[in-house]
Amino acid sequence: METKYWHMEADAPDMAAIAEAAALIRAGELVVFPTETVYGLGADAGNETAVRAIFAAKGRPGDNPLIVHIAEKEALKQVAAELTPAAEKLIRRFWPGPLTVILPKHPDIAPSVTAGLPTVAVRMPSHPVAAAFIRAAGVPIAAPSANRSGKPSPTIGEHARQDLSGRVAAILDAGCCEIGLESTVVDCTQEPVRLLRPGGITLEELRMVLGEVELAAALLPEEKPLAPGMKYPHYAPAGKVYLAEPAEAIAKAESLRQAGEKVALLLSEETADNIWDVHPDISVLILGSREDLEGVAQTLFESLRSCDQIEASAVVVESFPENGIGLAVMNRLRKAACAK
Ligand code: TXA
Ligand code: MG
Repeated sequence: METKYWHMEADAPDMAAIAEAAALIRAGELVVFPTETVYGLGADAGNETAVRAIFAAKGRPGDNPLIVHIAEKEALKQVAAELTPAAEKLIRRFWPGPLTVILPKHPDIAPSVTAGLPTVAVRMPSHPVAAAFIRAAGVPIAAPSANRSGKPSPTIGEHARQDLSGRVAAILDAGCCEIGLESTVVDCTQEPVRLLRPGGITLEELRMVLGEVELAAALLPEEKPLAPGMKYPHYAPAGKVYLAEPAEAIAKAESLRQAGEKVALLLSEETADNIWDVHPDISVLILGSREDLEGVAQTLFESLRSCDQIEASAVVVESFPENGIGLAVMNRLRKAACAK
């Protein structure tokens, strides 16, 4: 399949291209589009055949449900059968934006979208191109992240192109995604609500609105080394990923190098500033400042992908504090570290 490709600025949607892409969605085709979190691989959420094609294009297991994207709060009626009080509060505060809520599903949503579950995940992105595209399509759009299954989510159009060129009808490229990690997923079918995936909206922000928020078992401290990423392959560069405390990262990289590995070492600016004698065969990548976790989040997936470009067989990553978006950063790193 020949993939159409359009480039535009995030704040200046190319309406002619968007109209063409929207027509492809209505015709049952797949289109990659930018959001403020990561790129999405979209199809008409009411078209079962189109939704199945998403799973095939990504190589995604059929039992992992998708997020439905809408452009207006009004459209929630077409996706969810019911709006719970907690979901209503969260939506009022955080939409449009990087928050996904789980609600009871509307019957018009194709069964594959929810992998047969009675619930549906839904979000309203704030990215101007995403909003214009969904509005032009005129239907809710089911979309997982636009990576091949097991790769980090694409945070620039080029990553989506590398993974999905020839497998989708079109790609809308609007450069770099502002947040760089996927949306926060909150199960609103229960009280108190439960955080399933940390993301762009922080746990602290959720608690500010709702008071009590439970953590999914996989996010609890005692589960951390084992649970995340065990069921689905996730966020992994080709090399094996090791998480290390800041003071231990450099020594860990050196011992792997001595054992014959091709090592990439991903560090904060602060730790990198203190390196005097790292071996020239170790590739050092800077993730950003420990004081600016939003900055680390934004470039994390791009850095993990560049480990493949340098063909690292081992990737040592410094661990970061778990406040704010740091919780999401560490969640993704743990998944990467236990993927192999
Ligand atoms: O930021 C994002 O959320 C991006 C952009 C494209 O919107 N999308 C994204 O989709 O990350 P995906 O498919 O990579 O992740 C969706 C997550 C998965 O962890 C899936 O298991 C969960 O949402 N999910 C979807 N429907 C669910 C449901 N009914 N119940 C529980 N979890 C659900
Ligand atoms: Mg994904």
